Amino acid sequence: MFKKEIIVQTLAETAEAASEFANVIKKGSVITLTGNLGAGKTYFVKALCKKYNILNVSSPSFAIVNTYSGKEIVHHFDFYRIISVNELYDIGFEEYISDEEAVVFIEWAELFEEIIPKKRFQINIDFINDYKRKINIEERK
Ligand SMILES: Nc1ncnc2c1ncn2[C@@H]1O[C@H](COP(=O)(O)OP(=O)(O)OP(=O)(O)O)[C@@H](O)[C@H]1O
Ligand SMILES: [Mg+2]
Repeated sequence: MFKKEIIVQTLAETAEAASEFANVIKKGSVITLTGNLGAGKTYFVKALCKKYNILNVSSPSFAIVNTYSGKEIVHHFDFYRIISVNELYDIGFEEYISDEEAVVFIEWAELFEEIIPKKRFQINIDFINDYKRKINIEERK
């Protein structure tokens, strides 16, 4: 089971951590990201997607989900603005989450914990100060 905790001091160090973590996941992986507003969840996904040659990552908070395609297909969710779980079912969450051909990232996943697969990588990012973050990655089964 993969488990890692790192303190990063710069954006570049977060990008490096994300890039290394890209080697751990594969098609069908689900990665949930938690941490306060501005902790760096989107930044982490953005940096990781660079490894897939995906350069158009943006926060999906209004759209709920963005799909990108490069060396891998990526579904990128943000649950922050969702009020009812039905909004997720309406956009076909079940299909996205069970897409074995894609890597799925979910920001603010803890808001709808009940629909998140148990088998996943959970990433928590703690804001320490301007550039310093504690990144905790834990594989769950
Ligand atoms: N070490 C770092 N790692 C990641 N982001 C950092 C770091 N240092 C500074 N930042 C800045 O923190 C901000 C993180 O924003 P980001 O949108 O990634 O946060 P988020 O966790 O996705 O927030 P939200 O909950 O609103 O979705 C960016 O402006 C980024 O430049
Ligand atoms: Mg975000």
